[in-house]
Amino acid sequence: MSNNIAGKVVVVTGASSGLGEAAVRLLAAQGASVVLAARRAERINALTRELESAGGKAIAVATDVTHRDQVKKLVDTAVQTCGRVDVMINNAGLMPQSLLEKLKVDEWDRMIDVNIKGVLYGIAAALPHMQKQRSGHFINVSSVAGHRVGPGTAVYSATKYAIRALSEGLRQEVKPYNIRTTVISPGAVATELPDTISDPAAADRIQKFYEEYAIPADSFARVVAFAISQPEDVDINEVLFRPTRQEV
Ligand SMILES: NC(=O)c1ccc[n+]([C@@H]2O[C@H](COP(=O)([O-])OP(=O)(O)OC[C@H]3O[C@@H](n4cnc5c(N)ncnc54)[C@H](OP(=O)(O)O)[C@@H]3O)[C@@H](O)[C@H]2O)c1
Repeated sequence: MSNNIAGKVVVVTGASSGLGEAAVRLLAAQGASVVLAARRAERINALTRELESAGGKAIAVATDVTHRDQVKKLVDTAVQTCGRVDVMINNAGLMPQSLLEKLKVDEWDRMIDVNIKGVLYGIAAALPHMQKQRSGHFINVSSVAGHRVGPGTAVYSATKYAIRALSEGLRQEVKPYNIRTTVISPGAVATELPDTISDPAAADRIQKFYEEYAIPADSFARVVAFAISQPEDVDINEVLFRPTRQEV
């Protein structure tokens, strides 16, 4: 029986570590052709070789999602090499949390550029192909922080609320093209994400929080597989998941 994943062409941004890496590992094992994107080319090249030697189909395209032309090239390469793009997973992101009074304006800019504009560039790159195909699936990664705000999370949360807003608009607009849209909002998952925090107080707080609560990244990969594997007439629009022990 088909799992509705095998044979699909899945582009994943932020595939060099954490959630993106876990997703490509699971999807490749389930028969998808995965297209790995991130800036650290050595990481995605090595992972691609590993997946291929295990019998999977994978290609790596070094991509900085803050550059619209690079994201377009990523998706165009997927279509040229694999014939189509079935799923676009806009996952790349960073979380340099700090109180607003610390005025880490460069980090605010960076989060807006990667977490919001990077996702928009992913949509801009894949949407024309999916419209032409009359099928496709966007999976955009938000966060529990896209549902609640706390001290230190204002800008990160703003970017993750934005993902939910633009994904809902996208969902409504792509009905004529048979395109599915999923927002995944994870709680604490053990990845390199806390490493992006430069403020010592916030880093210390988040590190302790992750040490206490974080669950492995394959939790996210299974949610991705669940959304993709539904029959084509079922559109999983939003999944919010947390470690069972995580209260906030
Ligand atoms: N882990 C959690 O607890 C958690 C919870 C909720 C939401 N999320 C979200 O999940 C997503 C993935 O994060 P993660 O937890 O897996 O963290 P991670 O291990 O730090 O992975 C982040 C990924 O984003 C990529 N990236 C960062 N800037 C980029 C850029 N300019 N261009 C292309 N790729 C870029 C990184 O690759 P390169 O550095 O190689 O470019 C890396 O592959 C993020 O959107 C994050 O906000 C995570």
